[in-house]
Amino acid sequence: MPPRRRAGTLRRGVGVARSRCRGRGIAFGRPRGTSYAINLRLYFAGLSEAQWLEHARRMEPRPPMPWWNLRAMSDEELSAIYRYVRAAGPAGRPMPAALPPGQAPAPPFVQFP
Ligand code: HEM
Repeated sequence: MPPRRRAGTLRRGVGVARSRCRGRGIAFGRPRGTSYAINLRLYFAGLSEAQWLEHARRMEPRPPMPWWNLRAMSDEELSAIYRYVRAAGPAGRPMPAALPPGQAPAPPFVQFP
């Protein structure tokens, strides 16, 4: 790949890293309540890599978070996720607290299942 194109690809990659993982505020509404995917850029800012490796193997957050997939990852894979998100730096806002059944979330939300 010529050097100019590679530089463009790298710049786009950084843009993607900066624009994601901020927490979009999209609620996952379900009969058992509503959960919000966490803002990983804020979350990782307060966590060491060692704490992340420990926590990723123990946590069982609410659905639809597929925590069992993280648990099946190697230390190298979990570290790669951590370093990627940390490199983007903290950004965005904290997500709202989960809601109990019967409380309607503010739009936008995704109805699960
Ligand atoms: C590599 C991918 C992912 C990573 C590293 C990740 C990481 C995390 C972490 C660290 C938490 C906080 C858990 C805690 O401390 O108790 C969380 C929560 C959450 N995640 Fe993910 N997640 C990923 C993918 C997903 C996907 C694909 C979804 C949905 C389709 C999702 C939905 C959620 C939701 C709804 C919560 C909040 C759960 C609660 O309120 O208890 N996550 N995630």
